[in-house]
Amino acid sequence: MGSFVLPSSTLVGALVVLLSNLWLLPIAAQHSGITRHYKFEIKLQNVTRLCHTKSIVTVNGKFPGPRIVAREGDRVLVKVVNHVQNNITLHWHGIRQLQSGWADGPAYITQCPMQTGQSYVYNFTITGQRGTLFWHAHISWLRSTLYGPIVILPKRNSSYPFAKPYKEVPIIFGEWWNADPEAVINQALQTGGGPNVSDAYTINGLPGPLYNCSAKDTFKLKVKPGKTYLLRLINAALNDELFFNIANHTFTVVDVDAVYVKPLDTDTLVIAPGQTTNVLLKTKPHFPNATFLMAARPYLTGLGTFDNSTTAGILEYEPSDSSLSINSSIKKLQLFKPVLPVLNDTSFVANFTNRLRSLATAEFPANVPQTVDKQFFFTVGLGTSPCPQNQTCQGPNGTKFSASVNNVSFAMPTTALLQAHFLGQANGVYTTDFPTNPPLHFNYTGTPPNNTLVTNGTKVVVLPFNTSVELVMQDTSILGAESHPLHLHGFNFFVVGQGFGNFDPNKDPANFNLVDPVERNTVGVPSGGWVAIRFFADNPGVWFMHCHLEVHTSWGLKMAWVVMDGKLPNQKLPPPPFDLPKC
Ligand code: C2O
Repeated sequence: MGSFVLPSSTLVGALVVLLSNLWLLPIAAQHSGITRHYKFEIKLQNVTRLCHTKSIVTVNGKFPGPRIVAREGDRVLVKVVNHVQNNITLHWHGIRQLQSGWADGPAYITQCPMQTGQSYVYNFTITGQRGTLFWHAHISWLRSTLYGPIVILPKRNSSYPFAKPYKEVPIIFGEWWNADPEAVINQALQTGGGPNVSDAYTINGLPGPLYNCSAKDTFKLKVKPGKTYLLRLINAALNDELFFNIANHTFTVVDVDAVYVKPLDTDTLVIAPGQTTNVLLKTKPHFPNATFLMAARPYLTGLGTFDNSTTAGILEYEPSDSSLSINSSIKKLQLFKPVLPVLNDTSFVANFTNRLRSLATAEFPANVPQTVDKQFFFTVGLGTSPCPQNQTCQGPNGTKFSASVNNVSFAMPTTALLQAHFLGQANGVYTTDFPTNPPLHFNYTGTPPNNTLVTNGTKVVVLPFNTSVELVMQDTSILGAESHPLHLHGFNFFVVGQGFGNFDPNKDPANFNLVDPVERNTVGVPSGGWVAIRFFADNPGVWFMHCHLEVHTSWGLKMAWVVMDGKLPNQKLPPPPFDLPKC
């Protein structure tokens, strides 16, 4: 027993109060799990890749950053201390943040950034999610080095809807710049041109043997024959969707964006920035006398320049004890290399994403909104903004590159939208007139209009609590059709339909899947096509939505939804935590 003594009547009284309060708490607020504490120190660290040593911003000196492991139902407290010169925020990508919008993290949307020397405790509970997500910085391009996995295990005593894997391995894809990514984007925004591209892709921070000077920086997955491994794939790259496969092996996709899906067999998969995919990898039944390359390279659709290189890791079979002699000759083993789709293989991407389905069982239902309260049609794509006088710009025809949703290029506010909303001080910070439909109707995927200028504004859509929303996002061909992985904060949505060309409101809805559509937080708007999603606005707060190609976000392909409080106590946004950073 500890030395903590209370008069028994006080103890009983306290217990009674505690119990009666528990009784009053809404279901969602009762977390069955435990509380997990993490401390993230933001600091500089020298890291060498491609024979370039540079000082990068890291969490705890690690690159990639540390992993967060929790069970569904757990509360997670991450104390972040900023020791670097940059302003910092962290985002827990895909975490629903039910009634915890203050912990979401996008700079100037839900919080002001932590300045040098400041700290902030991100406090959230993981509700109704299991699988893999990731955390990353959410300010400028700092997520190029500030990112790491979030592993969400099932609740204690509950299991996966598939056989328990022998081992679980996070595989996080990233990009490496020899230059400073902050300088890259700042310069690009100055000149209006396209930013320089990365020098390499990485697997768990390692570029792999296909790059100069990188053979020693290769991720190795050591496996045993006849076992099943759960690979937790995460695309944390800034600007590129990636194809991935392992030579002579196939995967079974079982979970995307921390939601179970119907098992789907494939030898290659595509993963957009912001997406996560759990796959089962069955190893060969016997030691294969070979090693196998795993490789990722981009899926490219735009007209700009891209990093079209390939990152690779090695799948290595460990010989069983009886054949230790093989170990010494392992280097002489034959190496099989995977064949990846061509860089612009849009039909592969469409086929793969079309096959993903929610598990939709009694235990893991797909609660697809069957009726719609509010419908939205958003164009997403590139555009231009004028070159300031007395400057020459390097964007299209001497303009500056821009990007927009419904032709509005989002202007970042200088104070957090969530604070303005909570305090009822939206005036001068944002307006509530974000267009429901494009201001100009044109053949979105045909010949673009002559005028490609965007407008600028900090505009939001306001939704009453629990609105059932249908949103169709339509790619445009302005400055080239391009795939856009759109990410919605604070919600999962159901992908009820997708197609090429212009969305037809008279014909296409008839084909929507309202039974078992895939549920996720980031979806690719097909290059030259459209995607339709549905969700319930059941989470009060301010929720960012943006293209997860960071360059497009920088150019303004972003907007926000304001979801109002509901009537019940568990439908309201709580007040901000005391340590919320100030602008
Ligand atoms: Cu992973 Cu707003 O982003």
